[in-house]
Amino acid sequence: MPLRFSDAPWARTLSNAVGGFGAIIFFHKLCALVLTVAFGIHVANLVYRIVARREFSLVWGSNSMVPNLKDIKDFFGNFKWFLGLGPQPKFDRYAYWDKVDYWAVFWGMGIIGFSGYAMWFAPFFARVIPGSWLNIALLIHGEEAILAVGFIFTIHFFNTHLRPGNFPMDLTIFTGRLSEEELKEKHPEEYKRLLASGELAKFRSEPPPRWLKNFGRVMGGAAVVAGIAMLALMVVAFVR
Ligand code: HEM
Repeated sequence: MPLRFSDAPWARTLSNAVGGFGAIIFFHKLCALVLTVAFGIHVANLVYRIVARREFSLVWGSNSMVPNLKDIKDFFGNFKWFLGLGPQPKFDRYAYWDKVDYWAVFWGMGIIGFSGYAMWFAPFFARVIPGSWLNIALLIHGEEAILAVGFIFTIHFFNTHLRPGNFPMDLTIFTGRLSEEELKEKHPEEYKRLLASGELAKFRSEPPPRWLKNFGRVMGGAAVVAGIAMLALMVVAFVR
C-alpha cells in the first residue's frame, strides 16, 4: 500500500518505519519470490494429481473447484434465503463463494505475477515487448493489487470470518480441521456423502491442540486488524 500510494503522508511515515521505500521494495521482491514458489508448488501438485494419479475428481465433481450448475442454483438460492424467501442451500465441499475466492486469486496471480516480473526485469522485457507496455504493466499491477487487497479485506474476510456462524474467525485455515458438527452444518452435502460411503471415519482425527488454536487466533487476528487498517488507509488515499 505505501508503494501504491507513495505520495500520501501516511505512506512516507510507514515506509520510514521499515527503512524507507528501498527496504519496502526489497521485502516486496522477497515476498514475490515466496509467493511464486508457493503458486508453483500448488500448480505442480495439481498437475501431478490430475495427470499422474488420474484424480479426475479435481477437474469435475463434488471435490472440484470448477464451478457447476449447483453453484449457480446455490448462488440464487442463498440470496433468496438472505431475503427470507426460501431455505438455505445445502453446500458441498466448496460453496460458490469459496470457488470465487479461489479463481480470483488464481487468475490474479497470473496478472500480478507477469506484470510484476516485467517491471522487475524491465531491460530484458523491453527487448521482447514495446517499452510503453511496461507503463501499462505498472498500471495493471497497481490496480490489480488494489482489487485483490480490497476484495480480500472486505468480501473474503466477511464471508469466511466475520459473518454470523463464523465470527470472530474460522480457524480451519490454521488447524486444518473442523468438528463433525461444523461439517454437518456448513457442508451438509459432503457430510451426507461421506456418511453414505462409510468414508467419514477415514477423516476423523484428534481435536486441534490448544497452542495451534491460539496460534491461529493471533495470526488471524493480526491479519484482520492489518487488513482493516489497510482498507481504511486505502479509502483515505482515494478520497483525499
Ligand atoms: C510475483 C509476484 C510479484 C512481483 C514479481 C512483483 C513485483 C513488483 C515490482 C518489481 C514492483 C515495482 C517496484 C518499484 O517501484 O521499483 C511492484 C510494485 C507494486 N506491487 Fe508488486 N509484485 C508481485 C506481487 C504483488 C502483489 C501480490 C501485490 C498486492 C496484492 C503487489 C502490489 C504492488 C503494488 C501496490 C506496487 C506499486 C505499484 C505502483 O507504484 O502503482 N505486488 N511489484
